[in-house]
Amino acid sequence: LASIQVDVSALAPGDQLTVLWQGKPVFIRYRTETEIAQADEVDVSSLPDPNAENANLANPDAPATDENRALMAPEGSGIEPAGAFLVQMGVCTHLGCVPLGESGDFHGWFCPCHGSHYDTAGRIRKGPAPRNLPIPLAAFVDETTIQLG
Ligand code: FES
Repeated sequence: LASIQVDVSALAPGDQLTVLWQGKPVFIRYRTETEIAQADEVDVSSLPDPNAENANLANPDAPATDENRALMAPEGSGIEPAGAFLVQMGVCTHLGCVPLGESGDFHGWFCPCHGSHYDTAGRIRKGPAPRNLPIPLAAFVDETTIQLG
């Protein structure tokens, strides 16, 4: 898998960057405290897809908690809280359209093609999409750089 590195030093809470990786959009979002709180208060067992869908986790059955979806920033990065970043594929799990950010009934992403609503942790909440937006292999390689792949 070819890797790319993305400089996220210019991002502030509420900013989102979309990069192309392996020909597909990847959303890199520095979430606000409100967005994280909204994601945190959800009962995971009530979700259409209760799986974290995170390629970075050793356990393929890990639950879709916000903690299991967020990308932890390293100490010293100044990113607060450490799990503020969410990195996910920008490809709707229904039929592959690109969802719109800061949209939909759950203030996360909305896919206009057939009306799928994702929350602020990228989890499907309403509409025809069957799965949460997948989280690709991703990691901070220094305080301001995220590597995909
Ligand atoms: Fe997104 Fe159908 S492709 S709802």
